[in-house]
Order: sequence, then structure tokens, then C-alpha cells
Amino acid sequence: MKKYNFNEIIKREDTNCVKYDMRKHFFGINDVMPMWVADMDFKTPDFIIDALKERLQHPVLGYSFFSDEYFHSIINWLNKKHDWMVQKDWISFSPGVVPGFSLLIQALTKPGDKIIIQPPVYHPFFSAIKDNDRVIIENELILKDMKYYMNFDDLKEKVKEGAKMLLLSNPHNPGGRVWTKNEMEELGNICYENNVLIVSDEIHSDLVFEKNKHIPLASINQNIAEITITCMAPSKTFNLAGLATSFLVISNSNLLEKYKEALNKLHIWYGNIFGVTALEAAYNKGFEWVNQLMKYIENNLQILVAFLEKNIPEIKAMMPEATYLVWLDCRALKMDDELLKKFFVEKAKVGLNSGVEYGKTGAGFMRMNIACPEIILKESLQRIYNAVKLN
Ligand SMILES: Cc1ncc(COP(=O)(O)O)c(C=O)c1O
Repeated sequence: MKKYNFNEIIKREDTNCVKYDMRKHFFGINDVMPMWVADMDFKTPDFIIDALKERLQHPVLGYSFFSDEYFHSIINWLNKKHDWMVQKDWISFSPGVVPGFSLLIQALTKPGDKIIIQPPVYHPFFSAIKDNDRVIIENELILKDMKYYMNFDDLKEKVKEGAKMLLLSNPHNPGGRVWTKNEMEELGNICYENNVLIVSDEIHSDLVFEKNKHIPLASINQNIAEITITCMAPSKTFNLAGLATSFLVISNSNLLEKYKEALNKLHIWYGNIFGVTALEAAYNKGFEWVNQLMKYIENNLQILVAFLEKNIPEIKAMMPEATYLVWLDCRALKMDDELLKKFFVEKAKVGLNSGVEYGKTGAGFMRMNIACPEIILKESLQRIYNAVKLN
């Protein structure tokens, strides 16, 4: 069996790379180790690069359509990876998960409609609702013993305010929760009984640590499937975000029709050749690569936790059940959010996402991306240690 090398350091500067080449824009200086945006510092796997090279052997890159092979590779992946049997005609294209859920907001709700989110949560959930003139309703997660839980009592109250949709992050960004079947059943039942649609963003679903299992929300039961639209992509799993290729699974034909109308209005029909080629290669050949990737990230997680416990007890890591994103509780550093951000950028020279980007309950937290070679993670931890000790 091929052993993949995740220790290799890839120079990413000067490739118009958001994570590296926009550090000045986001942090004010270039000299920070970029441990922020959800983009891995590992090579996109060779079997994907080879498939792209092979496609380029043909000298014409004209209009192309979604082949049976494309649908088959998605169906096969979801079946084998998540025990979820989906049908070909439930699958639609979206040019990214964020564009996908934004289009769903436009297609399935009206201006002024209320949409529920569960902060702290991936920040485009807020902007997609606001930018489309819908109203955010916050059903905040409960933090208990460094783990997030859903607040169902509060949700039951909030749905009565007439919400039309709920955006779910599953697995959860930034807390790394893999929501359990019971949790999702309860959530789904409350939404079903109150006519609330659920957009389930499952972009991180392949990145689950060994002891956990991702369960697609729509696979739980027929009622929940009827109200659920699932957003998925190979982009986080295989480091392909630059190919802007993702897909939605919608088994309810009314909702599907409405989403397709929204795509048609924008003439989004074709996807792009490289995204489709990469998706097929990823889902046909990527099982072993993802297994090895997750073992590597789990080892990075252990390095991080051990380092913090031993050297920086002021910072506590929430143990993610999935994703390569670690939610760091920095409240014991006793800095306000402005100062905390400044501290990490200017004193530690490590670029993290500020917790408050994910909602007000993210205050005092920072999000760290640990999908990088071990040596880079260790260097960034050392920098944080030096800064905390000097402070
Ligand atoms: C929960 C979640 N959804 C969506 C995205 C981005 O999706 P896309 O690049 O396909 O728009 C991210 C990226 O970090 C994410 O964490």
C-alpha cells in the first residue's frame, strides 16, 4: 500500500494563495505563520493531479456536461464512506458550498424571512443571511466541559418565531462536533414539526477522526430527508477549494425544482472541467489517502494538546471529533478580542481566526488550522509559547 508523505513542506507563496499571499491583507503583516483559513498545506493527492494532467492531453477545453461517471463517483463515495444511498437525480451542482447555500436561501426563502443558525458557527452563515436581506435568529450552542451541545429548548422557542430555514454545520465548524444520531433526530423532528427547512453543510463530513462516524442528516429518516438539503464537496477533503466544485443532494422534488430554477436563472449549468475531473478521481481513488490524512492530523492534534497541557495551560484546546480545525479557549489569557488578535499576530506571529468571527459566543477563542506538516505546527506552538511567557 502506498504511504503518502504529509511531512513535505510545500512552498505556497506567490501562487495567489489566499492563506499565504493575503496575510498582509488579513493580518496587517506578512510575517505570520498562516494557521487560519480551512485550506491544508498538503499536496493535492497525486491521483487527482494525474487525472488533471491526463485530461490536459486533450487540447480542447470546451463546454462539457456532467457524465454518468461523475454521478456514479459521488453515489459510490457517499455509499461507501457514509452508508448513504442517494439517487442520481437528487444530485445538483453548486460552484462551492457557500454559493450553494446562498442560492438556496434565495430560492427557498423570501427577503425578511427568518433563518436560524447555531453560533458559534462558520462566519459565512451570518453573511449569507444578511447579504440576502433575511433575518438571523441565533440558537446558540451550549458550551459544557469544553464541548458544544445543541440547545433544543431554545430552538423550540425560536422556531415558533416563524423561521423558514435552519443552517446546520455538520460536522461543526469551529467546534469539531460530529453531531450524534440522537441530536440530529431531535433537531430534525423539531424542524419537521414546525415547517423549517434544514440546509445541512456537510463539507467536513469526510474528515472525521477514527472513533466517530458522520451520519448525513438526510439519511436519518424520510421526514427529515423531506426537509433537508445537503451540501457536500471534495474540496476540504482533498484540498481542491480552488476548483470551486461542490454538489447538493436534494431528495424532495419540490425543493430540487426550486434550486434548479435558481441555477437556471444564473445559467450555471456546466461546472468546470477540472473540478469534475478532480471530483471523479478523488471519489474513485481517495479512500486510502483520506485514511492516512486523518491519522496524520490526529497525530498533530495529539502534539498540540500535549504541548498546550505541558507548556501553555492558559490555552485549552477543544477536542474535535472531526475537521482539522481546533477551537482554542484563550479566555485565561484575559485579553479582549482586539488585543487577543494583536497578541497572536504581533507577539506570537501566528495567524489564526478570531473566535468572534463565529459569533459573540466565540469571544476569547481562536481557531487554529493544524492541517500542516508537523514541523510547522511545532514551530507555531513554540512561537505562541514564547509570546505567552514574555507577556
Ligand atoms: C462549514 C464550511 N462550509 C463551507 C466552506 C467553504 O465552502 P466553499 O469553498 O465550497 O464555498 C467552509 C470552508 O472553510 C466551511 O468550513
